[in-house]
Amino acid sequence: MTNTPHKDEITGVDTTGHEWDGIRELNNPLPKWWIYSFYVSIIWSIIYWILMPAWPILTSDGWTYTKGLLGYSQRAVVAAEIQEAQAKLAPFRDKIAASDFSEIVTNPELMTVALASGKAAFGDNCAPCHGSGAQGAVGFPNLNDDEWIWGGSLDEIHTTLKHGIRWDADDDSRFSQMPAFLADEILERGQVEDVATYVLTLNGSFEATEQSARGSVVFAEQCASCHGADGTGNVELGAPNLADHIWLYGGDLPTIVETVSYSRSGVMPAWSNRLSPGTLKELALYVHSLGGGQ
Ligand code: HEC
Ligand code: HEC
Repeated sequence: MTNTPHKDEITGVDTTGHEWDGIRELNNPLPKWWIYSFYVSIIWSIIYWILMPAWPILTSDGWTYTKGLLGYSQRAVVAAEIQEAQAKLAPFRDKIAASDFSEIVTNPELMTVALASGKAAFGDNCAPCHGSGAQGAVGFPNLNDDEWIWGGSLDEIHTTLKHGIRWDADDDSRFSQMPAFLADEILERGQVEDVATYVLTLNGSFEATEQSARGSVVFAEQCASCHGADGTGNVELGAPNLADHIWLYGGDLPTIVETVSYSRSGVMPAWSNRLSPGTLKELALYVHSLGGGQ
């Protein structure tokens, strides 16, 4: 490659002076329109830096940025938009707060707002324990199914939300305590295994055996008072149905032996002092709508 000044004979234009295997490059000036757009964009960027937030700067308080003369902030715009949207919803939400469930459920407009607001509040407050789709996890009930530990009517769900479950700070909290049958020495290890085996015959997981027959006697004496003679549970006492395939803690034999031996005592916070009465109603309506409402 050589690099000498040179004029192209055919066009009469200077070349860049480079040559690659006899091929040269014409050195035409850039088009005017391109040059002017380039200058305009430089000027535009300077104006933009002055007016709009632009440069990160390090101050003694840490990183911040030049705010620009217009003081524009995307966050402020979003906040204003949210406020506007909430202002539009406010009359509906006030009405929800002031109405009985029976009035709300028969008013499609109120229901639409209630379910949307309830869903948002659920994501903010309940999803960490119950899952974002309310599908639950071990120890945290699935709220989509139609098994209810404490009852699935709107009023029952509402009460559960307001006062929580085994929540000491609320005197009206739902409360019940299954004994820890092994730890409290009410039953012997063998009896616990017998009754756990019997529990698993209730939903057909196990065939009846001699062991489960012994367990059924223990069940009638120790468990039926809360879980019912047929094991279908009692919402008054928060005693789950043991005769279906829905388990809060797990439906295999070792887990049931563990539950009976040491008991569980799941806790849910009360929400009446954290969420507004309207939000609590919206949440109850939302949870009720998930599929299993009674
Ligand atoms: C700290 C974890 C936690 C949070 C947060 C939480 N829950 Fe719960 N929730 C529980 C537990 C644990 C239970 C089951 C308690 C038991 O064993 O009886 C429960 C039970 C319930 C029940 C009763 C289910 C039934 O079958 O009767 C409802 C309804 C409920 N939660 C709704 C909510 C809603 C709505 C929120 C948000 C406002 C929420 N929960 C937030 C832990 C939580
Ligand atoms: C005083 C009432 C009471 C008595 C008596 C009682 N239970 Fe319970 N049981 C409960 C409550 C309440 C729960 C839910 C515990 C929780 O939510 O943490 C429960 C939960 C369970 C569970 C877990 C269910 C699941 O879905 O994971 C099993 C299994 C169980 N009980 C079996 C028994 C057996 C067997 C006996 C008798 C040996 C018994 N219970 C006696 C109140 C009782």
